[in-house]
Amino acid sequence: MALADLHTKIDLQNSSQLSSLSTRLSYNRRISLRPLPQPHNSRICCSVTSKEVQAPVTVNTEEPKKKPDCYGIFCLTYDLMAGEETKSWKKLINIAISGAAGMISNHLLFKLASGEVFGPDQPIALKLLGSERSFEALEGVAMELEDSLFPLLREVSIGIDAYEVFQDADWALLIGAKPRGPGMERADLLDINGQIFAEQGKALNAVASRNVKVIVVGNPCNTNALICLKNAPDIPAKNFHALTRLDENRAKCQLALKAGVFYDKVSNVTIWGNHSTTQVPDFLNAKINGIPVKEVIKDTKWLEEEFTEMVQKRGGVLIKKWGRSSAASTAVSVVDAIRSLVTPTPEGDWISSGVYTAGNPYGIAEDIVFSMPCRSKGDGDYELVKDVIIDDYLRSRIKMTEAELLAEKRCVAHLTGEGIAVCDLPGDTMLPGEM
Ligand code: LMR
Repeated sequence: MALADLHTKIDLQNSSQLSSLSTRLSYNRRISLRPLPQPHNSRICCSVTSKEVQAPVTVNTEEPKKKPDCYGIFCLTYDLMAGEETKSWKKLINIAISGAAGMISNHLLFKLASGEVFGPDQPIALKLLGSERSFEALEGVAMELEDSLFPLLREVSIGIDAYEVFQDADWALLIGAKPRGPGMERADLLDINGQIFAEQGKALNAVASRNVKVIVVGNPCNTNALICLKNAPDIPAKNFHALTRLDENRAKCQLALKAGVFYDKVSNVTIWGNHSTTQVPDFLNAKINGIPVKEVIKDTKWLEEEFTEMVQKRGGVLIKKWGRSSAASTAVSVVDAIRSLVTPTPEGDWISSGVYTAGNPYGIAEDIVFSMPCRSKGDGDYELVKDVIIDDYLRSRIKMTEAELLAEKRCVAHLTGEGIAVCDLPGDTMLPGEM
């Protein structure tokens, strides 16, 4: 950003205001400012509060090491106070996203910035985490965000150090993970990705908001979420989610298709367990037009076999067709998952999320991340739905996915602080995309 451009954006009243602003800008972008000729009706137009402006400030010319750079236009241009007054905008929230240069993020970021996720009165800051290899791509993403002129998007920063990028994060959407490569055992995948999520858990623990909400998307997402929360002991375990909303959406679509109704008529769909081919899409408690699915779709064999397998393996079938993993629908399901936590769940309905199993009413093993039915009051938190019926069929399926998650947990014990890892994975179970 040229200095001339800065001059058109910023009116400076006096040298102490200049000092304050100069501190902030040099901190972010190493731009030095000279005093401007004093304009009439001048005011600061930047993200500083009046308190900051009035306080005597010592200009710090040294670049602080611990914060990520803001990107381009997002370093300088908004008048938060005027925005607050005229639009009653809420307090800015920080959203950190890992794997930010990837395909899922590319769909997700623009939804977040448009206001469709957190609402039209919620300004946001996007903190994008990439890798050294993806840094240029990350800059490209930030450029596209600049060019989109989203009024709610107040700050964008990019970086490759989780300890910088996760600073003060209110939400952390952990998308980046390595896909399983040729010849790689599932245990290797658990280890490689587990290390990423252990490190990110530590970073969240050190620098994120104490009430950060974390949604783990990178696979194997349940166990990654478990590793992450175990490495973040100062953040409530309840705040960590593994994304199974995509599976819920897939299940709703297939039930709607079979029943010949549009998918808005399908409710109360639970995905139980792991985001893998052992997951259990629950048709016993699901409803179509408020009526139990089994009364609408009488073909039990279809429900138990075809439907169940279709949902479990949807990701893999899609990869075969598309040549890569689902990205757009995953991003949509992340949006759905967040919105389900920041808006009240419709009366009588619920949503699925992979959550920490402390004190669950279904007899599912404690201390794993397991997808279950949840409800939210819209405050970012959730409670488990406690009165879902479990029959013998469901119970036997739930046991299989639970066994898989327990085995995954044993396999990452070295990353959760629980001793030596023992990998006795049942068969070689798959992520939906690995078939
Ligand atoms: C999906 O369900 O589409 C993905 O989790 C597949 C994958 O393994 O990337």
